[in-house]
Amino acid sequence: MSLKLDSTVTLNNGVKMPQLGLGVWKVNNSGASQSVQWALKHGYKAIDTAKQYGNEAGVGDGLQKGLAENGLKREDIFLTTKIFNGDQGYQSVLDNFEGQLKRLQTDYVDLLLIHWPVDGTYLDTWRALETIYKSGKARAIGVSNFNITRLKDILQICSIKPAVNQMEYHPLCQEVDIKNFCDENNIYLEAWSPLGGGAVLSDTRLKTIADKYNKSVAQVILRWDLQNGIITIPKSVHEARIIQNADVYDFEISDDDMDEINGFDADKRSLWYGDFFWSGNPDGFKDSVDVWDDEPQFTK
Ligand SMILES: NC(=O)c1ccc[n+]([C@@H]2O[C@H](COP(=O)([O-])OP(=O)(O)OC[C@H]3O[C@@H](n4cnc5c(N)ncnc54)[C@H](OP(=O)(O)O)[C@@H]3O)[C@@H](O)[C@H]2O)c1
Repeated sequence: MSLKLDSTVTLNNGVKMPQLGLGVWKVNNSGASQSVQWALKHGYKAIDTAKQYGNEAGVGDGLQKGLAENGLKREDIFLTTKIFNGDQGYQSVLDNFEGQLKRLQTDYVDLLLIHWPVDGTYLDTWRALETIYKSGKARAIGVSNFNITRLKDILQICSIKPAVNQMEYHPLCQEVDIKNFCDENNIYLEAWSPLGGGAVLSDTRLKTIADKYNKSVAQVILRWDLQNGIITIPKSVHEARIIQNADVYDFEISDDDMDEINGFDADKRSLWYGDFFWSGNPDGFKDSVDVWDDEPQFTK
């Protein structure tokens, strides 16, 4: 079965980005390779990884196999990766990005994000992303986990505006102020943990709405993302769920139900990044699923 997964958004530099893709956080290399192959088989056109996930090599492997098995070309797929917190700073980003391309078995990525705003370095990191963009090795550049203050910092110094801000976003965490700021500045909001990492799926109010459409809660949330103009990247390591999560193009949530879900916002983040401060470098890049991106240290 091939799903209809052709909805795209146009980023502020004219590049088209698929609105729904596959996330691979907390997946090891072999799992990532398998998930990417399933995703490509079922019509996904976008994959989201990061050096910090320790699975760029698995994604690169899955991509090569998935392209070959499905008669696809590299340019048919939109590949996102992110700059590792420990690599931030102008020269360090440039030096380490080459390794990311090598692991991903590609000459370029479609979107390169600053994974986290590491204080003291993110402006230099942005300048490095601009250099990479100008070299053609990233078709678009953006940020992740940037609040309005930090977005303003980037906008003040940039020669190329961020195309995307990837943030935690789901019915219980809607980041209305940041979304409005992004809209005003022509920056697309991309939802990480769109299913709340799985936690939002047990919300009984969403279940009631999902039943009306004969859809799962996951499908209603992802459809709500699409109708709200959000880019979304649900993760699953199960083929049936990878299919289910993309099977969201055959129904439309009514305005009333959209309003109801919009009303579920409860500022419920899985982590707080408002006062985020990365104290020193993390202990180095490890090719391991232990290297998650939600273990920053915080100062308040
Ligand atoms: N920029 C950042 O800082 C950042 C942070 C977090 C995440 N991300 C990106 O965003 C992606 C998505 O976020 P996430 O992985 O945290 O969580 P998510 O996509 O919100 O949820 C994934 C969880 O839900 C389960 N699941 C998926 N589809 C399901 C379905 N149809 N029915 C029931 N359960 C389902 C998955 O289990 P199974 O895998 O077992 O199916 C997994 O436990 C990540 O993979 C990553 O690419 C970025």
